[in-house]
Amino acid sequence: MNILILGSGGREHALTWKLAQSKKVKRIFIGPGNAGTSNSGTNLKLDPGNFPEVKNAVLENKIDLVIVGPEAPLVDGIHDFFLNDITLKNIPVIGPGKSAARLEGSKDFAKAFLTRHKIPTAAYKSFDKSSMKEAPGFLRTLNPPYVIKADGLAAGKGVLIINDIHEAEKEVEAILNGKFGAAGQKVVIEQFLKGIELSVFIITDGVSYKLLPEAKDYKRIGEGDTGLNTGGMGAVSPVPFADHIFMQKVKNRIIDPTMKGLSEDGIVYKGFIFFGLINVEGNPYVIEYNARLGDPESEVIIPRIKSDFFDLIEGVAKGDLEERRIEIDERFVTTVMLVSGGYPGDYEKGKSIQGFDRIKESVVFHAGTKRAEDKVVTSGGRVLAVTSWGTTMKEALKISYRNAGLLNFEGICYRTDIGFDL
Ligand code: AMP
Ligand code: GLY
Repeated sequence: MNILILGSGGREHALTWKLAQSKKVKRIFIGPGNAGTSNSGTNLKLDPGNFPEVKNAVLENKIDLVIVGPEAPLVDGIHDFFLNDITLKNIPVIGPGKSAARLEGSKDFAKAFLTRHKIPTAAYKSFDKSSMKEAPGFLRTLNPPYVIKADGLAAGKGVLIINDIHEAEKEVEAILNGKFGAAGQKVVIEQFLKGIELSVFIITDGVSYKLLPEAKDYKRIGEGDTGLNTGGMGAVSPVPFADHIFMQKVKNRIIDPTMKGLSEDGIVYKGFIFFGLINVEGNPYVIEYNARLGDPESEVIIPRIKSDFFDLIEGVAKGDLEERRIEIDERFVTTVMLVSGGYPGDYEKGKSIQGFDRIKESVVFHAGTKRAEDKVVTSGGRVLAVTSWGTTMKEALKISYRNAGLLNFEGICYRTDIGFDL
């Protein structure tokens, strides 16, 4: 099989690294990939959002299967584009179609789905310009802080958590007046849930599913979960509080009703579902759905899969996932993200990275790097994810931090407290 992985981050490098270990995979292409993915595959210059460009790459390189890493092409309908194209329609796409990807692409759609199928989630109401006058009244039924979300994809910036009710009213107006562009044609206001978050993942062929390892991600830039939100500064798996009893609740109250709901609504879903959950006093609630794997969660959950990951991918493509098996490594896996100075605000790129040859016992996944002549240089805010294994979380973190200390580029930053709350 020749496969194409779309995307360019740490998630895509982790996918490439794992799939390169499968006997069933002949060649891996990554579009556009990064300096790390080019170690286990061939990078292709393409924009995953430009579907005709993806088509050319698929035909030129005789691709047999496509895995979509990021959400934007899914929400924009890349799967439907393949199904509607006579030359592409028999090439499986791992990732949901446009209708199913609304679980991530529209928060209003996701909340209505959750409510319709009685899946635990925060109480909410949606507003558009025509109903905007009713928003202050709804806000007054809630206790602060107020959670206000732009309906559509807003590059991780579309969720506001605000203490002051007047400021909350103003933000609702600002979003509906275009603060986040088209993503803010609707606004979701919801009840604030207090608890600890975790990310749960399944892979599904639309009928059956396999539970993948869960993870906890650290989203804020600063130590102790303070400061601005980032794409994620590190992750750990397994999550100690996600014990058998908790995961049984996740299965019974969330995953199974989601699968049943999709089926009842006539939505075919082939790919990954990422359940962004919050544990409120031992009970799981859905904060959000994502139509893809998480990043940096992928850099800890994929390394915990011991069996051939391509076997599961093939199960999705062929619709016989039920018959496939998954074996999970019991050990802890941690990742620490090394980021550019200034991230998540402005930062410089093109800084040369040193120290790869000194790494022992960790795998370094590239998130934002590229090759420049014979050097590897930074090309994004999140640059490298240092992943390690250990019999305890502490041991894995110690190895990640030891190796993080051996890598260097101008302006390097990372959190030194990943896993602190577990
Ligand atoms: P989302 O993009 O929906 O995942 O929201 C981004 C982040 O905002 C989440 O990871 C949570 O930390 C926080 N958040 C979203 N909704 C809620 C809620 N109802 N209660 C508390 N925190 C929330
Ligand atoms: N780490 C969170 C995400 O991938 O959305």
